[in-house]
Amino acid sequence: MTETRLLQSDPQGIDTAAALLRAGGLVAFPTETVYGLGADATDGRAVAGIFEAKGRPRFNPLIVHLPDAEAARAVGVLDDAAERLAAAFWPGPLTLVLPLRAGAGISPLVTAGLETVAIRVPAHPVAQALLRAAGRPLAAPSANPSGKVSPTTAAHVLAGLTGRIAAVVDGGPCAVGLESTIVATGVTPVLLRPGGVPSEAVEACLGRPIALAGDLGGAAPSAPGQLASHYAPEAALRLNVTAARPGELMLGFGPGPCDLNLSESGDLAEAAANLFHHLRLLDAGGTAPIAVAPVPEQGLGRAINDRLRRAAAPRG
Ligand code: TXA
Ligand code: MG
Repeated sequence: MTETRLLQSDPQGIDTAAALLRAGGLVAFPTETVYGLGADATDGRAVAGIFEAKGRPRFNPLIVHLPDAEAARAVGVLDDAAERLAAAFWPGPLTLVLPLRAGAGISPLVTAGLETVAIRVPAHPVAQALLRAAGRPLAAPSANPSGKVSPTTAAHVLAGLTGRIAAVVDGGPCAVGLESTIVATGVTPVLLRPGGVPSEAVEACLGRPIALAGDLGGAAPSAPGQLASHYAPEAALRLNVTAARPGELMLGFGPGPCDLNLSESGDLAEAAANLFHHLRLLDAGGTAPIAVAPVPEQGLGRAINDRLRRAAAPRG
């Protein structure tokens, strides 16, 4: 057990966090998507600590966070499509899976031994300040115990990881609220995970439709961490419900009776920002099953439905 420090997102807090990271410590920090659990990606021992703190399987590779596209080019090889996506969406909630550049210095634990590396340039000012102060690429998965609901506040991080990490930098609630969209470029661009950049926007940028990882069969690249059961609250979840059964707690979307509403006006960005926090609040009420209203399968709704399906999946 270590005592986990709660740091403010002022210059002093950022300096302390950067020093802890450079010394091989684990520090959670805000991004615009969810809180990440950071470690120096060049330090194998520090990276091993991430897997231990989260209880994460070692075959599940981590995303490397960098301050800008130039730093990304030193770690991964960007083809034309990757450059176009980077120009359109970085900094922001997009992760690119790219060929790993030889000699980049990234610990093989980060990539789980793959020849590719996932890279993200976060937009959150605290993440940007921390990356620049640390001066290291930061490996950072979502800052939650493996398989559980992702954190969108510093309090969520502490609820899951206190005593297991050196510190968390408090940057308030995350604006996007669910994880980055993951795209692998190459011969055919593939959507590995729907997320904060709607797939329609990725397609518009590329000028072509994007394949879904599952549609290409076994030969396609995949995100090894996309386990069927993930983001799971303690309570059972029932999806696409128009009327809750007695004893169920109702998570609404749009107008209608419910216990908590993702967005009364039916706004998908508001719903994404509320999703994980609302799941936690309903879960805290005990073991009452949670019924969830239908969410349209478009724009950010695709990412919301992806998380809900995994949260509802039979637990492994
Ligand atoms: O928004 C986000 O992406 C957040 C914040 C903290 O940046 N991070 C995040 O990390 O969601 P994590 O570890 O929860 O999810 C990373 C996903 C996993 O599904 C993993 O399998 C996939 O990225 N991934 C990482 N490296 C990969 C690679 N080389 N090839 C394919 N998938 C990869
Ligand atoms: Mg995660």
